[in-house]
Amino acid sequence: MEIGIAADHGGYDLKVLLRDFLIAQGHHIHDFGAYEHNAADDYPDFVIPLAKAVASGEVERGIAVCGSGVGASVAANKIKGVRAALINDHFSAHQGVEDDDLNILCLGGRVTGVNAAQDLVNAFIKARFTQEERHLRRLKKVKLLEEV
Ligand code: RB5
Repeated sequence: MEIGIAADHGGYDLKVLLRDFLIAQGHHIHDFGAYEHNAADDYPDFVIPLAKAVASGEVERGIAVCGSGVGASVAANKIKGVRAALINDHFSAHQGVEDDDLNILCLGGRVTGVNAAQDLVNAFIKARFTQEERHLRRLKKVKLLEEV
């Protein structure tokens, strides 16, 4: 899968580990930075380019990491076509895709440990939107908000 990944300084260490984890699984990773740890950097500078790449289809899914995952999810959801959520549990990592067509997984680099993050990423990447009528109906209502 073509997967984009991005992080600020709060998520930098976890991003590097997850990038290598996904590459080892054979995924093609588009790294939107940060490319070094810089305590003065700002998460929108990395998350917004990732979100635009997801929205345009350049990558199929995205993973955004900041310190808490909150700022990353807030910023990513400003981009039309993006459905991003801060995820801290296995169920939501796959159900968010299956029911809500989640396309960006947000994680907190200061919150979620490496093993848990790898499990969340695996659940997210392997999940597929079900296309069930009730989910399409709900998603259509959400998408209408992007036209307001
Ligand atoms: C950066 O210090 C931190 O505020 C940021 O990574 C993130 O946690 C924001 O939600």
